[in-house]
Amino acid sequence: MGIVFNEKTGEFHLYNDRISYLMRILRNGQLGQLYLGRRIPQREDHGYLLENRYRPVSAYVFDDEYSFTLEHLKQEYPAYGTTDFRMPALEICQPDGSRITDFRYVSHEISKGKPALDGLPATYTESEDEAETLKIVLRDTLLNVELTLLYTIFRDVDGIARSARFENKGQEAYQITRAMSLSLDLPDDGYEWVQFSGAWGRERFLKTRRLQQGIQSVSSTRGASSHHHNPFVFLKRPTADEHQGEVIGFSLVYSGNFLAQAEVDTYGVTRMMIGINPFGFSWCLKPQESFQTPEAVMIYSTEGMNGMSQAYHRLYRTRLARGYWRDRERPVLLNNWEATYFDFTEEKLLKIAENAKADGVELFVLDDGWFSTRCDETSGLGDWWPNMDRLPGGIKGLSEKIEALGLRFGLWFELEMVNKDSELYRAHPDWIIQTPGRHASHGRRQYVLDFSRKEVVDYIYEMVEKLIGESKISYIKWDMNRNITECFSAGYGAEQQGEIFHRYILGLYDLYDRLNKRFPQILFESCASGGGRFDPGLLYYAPQCWTSDDTDAVERQRIQYGTSYAYPVSSMGAHVSITPNHQLARSAPLKTRGDVAAFGAFGYELDLARLTDEERKLVKEQIRFVKKYRKLTHTGVFYRLLSPFEGNFTAWMVVSEDKKQAIVAYFKILNDVNSAFRRLYLKGLEDRFLYHTIEDEVDTGSFYGSELMNMGLITTDMSAGELPHDAQPCGDFWSRIVVLEADA
Ligand code: DGJ
Repeated sequence: MGIVFNEKTGEFHLYNDRISYLMRILRNGQLGQLYLGRRIPQREDHGYLLENRYRPVSAYVFDDEYSFTLEHLKQEYPAYGTTDFRMPALEICQPDGSRITDFRYVSHEISKGKPALDGLPATYTESEDEAETLKIVLRDTLLNVELTLLYTIFRDVDGIARSARFENKGQEAYQITRAMSLSLDLPDDGYEWVQFSGAWGRERFLKTRRLQQGIQSVSSTRGASSHHHNPFVFLKRPTADEHQGEVIGFSLVYSGNFLAQAEVDTYGVTRMMIGINPFGFSWCLKPQESFQTPEAVMIYSTEGMNGMSQAYHRLYRTRLARGYWRDRERPVLLNNWEATYFDFTEEKLLKIAENAKADGVELFVLDDGWFSTRCDETSGLGDWWPNMDRLPGGIKGLSEKIEALGLRFGLWFELEMVNKDSELYRAHPDWIIQTPGRHASHGRRQYVLDFSRKEVVDYIYEMVEKLIGESKISYIKWDMNRNITECFSAGYGAEQQGEIFHRYILGLYDLYDRLNKRFPQILFESCASGGGRFDPGLLYYAPQCWTSDDTDAVERQRIQYGTSYAYPVSSMGAHVSITPNHQLARSAPLKTRGDVAAFGAFGYELDLARLTDEERKLVKEQIRFVKKYRKLTHTGVFYRLLSPFEGNFTAWMVVSEDKKQAIVAYFKILNDVNSAFRRLYLKGLEDRFLYHTIEDEVDTGSFYGSELMNMGLITTDMSAGELPHDAQPCGDFWSRIVVLEADA
């Protein structure tokens, strides 16, 4: 791994053992993009890659020639209007109304490791030799604004982290109206664009389309990364699949409004960019102040989509997630939400917890409804003190009782919100986000607290710090159940209103950071009506996220499969719930519900007392299995094998780093009769290892890795009595888990 600068040609080469990234200072001082791809040898001059020439209707930079036009040049951080007509990476509105900028190379610095980003989540290194960072400083001399582009190349992950920082060294204020985190011009358009979109209850469904001339994009304008689109897209060659071929991922480490966009121009050049959504955004860059964009992480894979995902998993699990819980086995939890909703007493909760303990659960989580007057969604948000009628000993008392049962205790919060029927709102009606003179819309009868204002964040911190500090709390579920409307802050002047969406997210990160620091051993799980804020930004503060409110085992296959393209198994909160399922009214077998949830941060979302004795036996078995294998499912290399977006089957597997163990999950949605012969071709095993295939604790045979990968694991379904061991015959919503253990 290294970063080389060639003085003579002005070329930068960032490389590790497998990938190269090349840039060059252009003749006009701006920064050009030359190459992203497989590692190439270091060489002085790649000037031949600068494809520019005369074309009618283009405009040219230099008076004496007709070829240098930014319209044709591939660039690193392009601006509009100085011969490039494509969408730019930046735009700055100046006091005279001009938006033209001209940032030219001034200097650069290469350093070991990776610097932190002020107030923002970002990937990090633990030792200096894990990464190298290039800082390139460019300046617009007319504005006296400096632009610093940061590039980090990792040693063990085929990725580059990028961000941009603007610093106003002049005397006048400017409005930044666009500041992307990453822009990349690729030499052709022979790609498919893949995005992860959906809605509440069906988050991150995979959608693919061929790139076309013009702009294709996904974005959020909701104040959160959202259920609707994820701040992650990738480009793949049409011939690439899960296991081979070129794939380039673009992921934004951010939880607010974002834009991910590809623009294909007339000449087949693809300009990818990702960053804060410029719609509704502006940042007043005052003299001597600076603005830092969030970080974007780009992964380059020639091992297909699994190769890309494995790189993101590794980076995000070990160098984005942080703290005490990063590498620890996550507790099996039981959350009371679907068991009781708002209808509980302390006695009822303790009974649920007792049963959970009896079956092997490790953590009991009390969800919404424990505080102030909150008995339904109309009141109480903002008043974070216990409802003493429901919980006579308060949270302190309940948490002690739960611990006395031998369980850890976890608690739900929704710290960013307030109901009008609350002490907080009555005392500070001006603390919500609302536009003066306009109606304030509600969502679930709640309003968004103005986290762009420090005093609001401070107030919430003080209130909950006290409660958490005096109770025995091991886990916090941090919920967020509505998006921002009528965005405006009473704390800022007219020229700063375009900052509010972003400042809100900075306030959210600040509160998370303070609580992380004050309570380093608490496990945080983020949530936003399920998976409405499942993004890398929050993984920095909360290593797991409630993947979706939809707990149906069939829908969850798609949700978890889609989520796995960027996010590790350890980050996906996945619970077994009651049937008929509360979201879909479907009744999938308990085994299938458990088998899907086992590939996530596992738990239950039900009252175990409502299950039969037979089912309770299975629950105990599920918990035993999860405890035995959670380290493997969370840290192993994850392979998607069969896509639920393509057919009746879903399959995935994890393989331990040393390849001695693996777990294969195979799901069939609807049963079929007298079915075809089927085989599942496994991946990532060691050819010469002899693996025992173990199903429901029964050793069903042994096969070499090369056999399982090339001949396949036989998965032909059998009717009753035909299965190789005493298991249930295949039915609808069916699942099998096969553990592979290699002979020592
Ligand atoms: C939405 C969450 O996604 C649910 O799990 C639950 O915590 C409710 N909010 C509580 O209001």
